[in-house]
Amino acid sequence: MTSSTAVIVVAAGSGTRLGLGRPKAFVPLAGRLLLEHAVDVAVAAEAEPLVVAVVPAELVEATGDILGDRAQVVAGGSTRQLSVAAGLALLPDSVEVVLVHDAARPLTPQAVFDRVAARVRATGHGVIPGLPVADTVKRVDDGLVHGTVDRSGLAAVQTPQGFPRRALVDAYAAATEDFTDDAAVFSAAGLEVELVAGDPDGFKITTSADLERAIALVTGGMPRTGIGIDVHAFGGAGDLRLATLVWPGEPALEGHSDGDAVAHAVCDALLSAAGLGDIGSRFGTDDPRYAGAAGRVFLEGTLELLAATGWTPVNVAVQVVANRPRFAARRLEAEAALTRLVGAPVSVSATTTDGLGFAGRGEGVTAIATALVRAVVPAAP
Ligand code: CTP
Ligand code: MG
Repeated sequence: MTSSTAVIVVAAGSGTRLGLGRPKAFVPLAGRLLLEHAVDVAVAAEAEPLVVAVVPAELVEATGDILGDRAQVVAGGSTRQLSVAAGLALLPDSVEVVLVHDAARPLTPQAVFDRVAARVRATGHGVIPGLPVADTVKRVDDGLVHGTVDRSGLAAVQTPQGFPRRALVDAYAAATEDFTDDAAVFSAAGLEVELVAGDPDGFKITTSADLERAIALVTGGMPRTGIGIDVHAFGGAGDLRLATLVWPGEPALEGHSDGDAVAHAVCDALLSAAGLGDIGSRFGTDDPRYAGAAGRVFLEGTLELLAATGWTPVNVAVQVVANRPRFAARRLEAEAALTRLVGAPVSVSATTTDGLGFAGRGEGVTAIATALVRAVVPAAP
């Protein structure tokens, strides 16, 4: 299918003000990168647009893997204007209308894309979404106020900004200075730009307070739940290790690691809640680094992964199904040890199976866990 509409999503900025040590568009927001949020809305637009993502040169390949057939990917430049130009250069002649959108506005509703695109088609003008300015605006110089600006004549503008492609390409070719948005480039070429209604959700993420606002909007403040289960057979060497505790005199569990089914079930529940797969796919059992590794090592790795991808545990519950060890005497100790590692309350309970099944025959231990996690601003590396 050849699209007559294109959306260029610019994502090549460095995100200095957000300060998370990675380009802003590559920061996760409730499980998906800002760039993915923005691209997914663009892809869903009524005009079924061709979508181009403009990203830092060193991330072109990785972005291609992430976005798949959702978007074409191209390297950006040192300014936003150069990044837009790189996206424009990729568009085929069949594209009549082009929308330029900031990846830093991941929650702009699809209706804004549709409104802008339809208005460009109807008028042949540049069209930008904007909102009335709510605050009183002052003219200030050197800390001194020199008067009030009539805000009825002002709009705070957003993206996507839409244009007839050919006219925008010409305006970019003619631009002699660095403008902060596409409408300014278009206007400088003497072309008409009009305003349509923007949307409060189309705000730009600049600081971590903006990212917190976006997280609250996307998640509705709700945590996410996950589940994990692990089984190990008795037969290992040395003392039993379970719930990160050593149990002298109790038979040890077998496994590539130390067989700590409780720690592993907790890891799986946390990874499951965060949508990060499972312990097997994250800390491969054939990976020599984890041979004989203690349950604590997997928990620490899991928590690092959660922090980097913007999740934090709310609480965890784990139940052990086994004849031995008897948990009652050390339940509080197990809870304290796990709570310290997870950084959120972990409750531990235990049961037997009335003599039934492998647990009843005393052949091994099952642990089953649930976890709640909530989305947060990810940790800087
Ligand atoms: N952008 C771009 N290429 C650049 C600079 C910015 O594609 N050379 C994009 C950003 O990725 C962002 C949008 O333009 O989607 C708006 O820019 P801004 O909010 O300033 O983002 P950053 O430049 O990444 O942030 P900062 O200025 O804090 O470094
Ligand atoms: Mg910038």
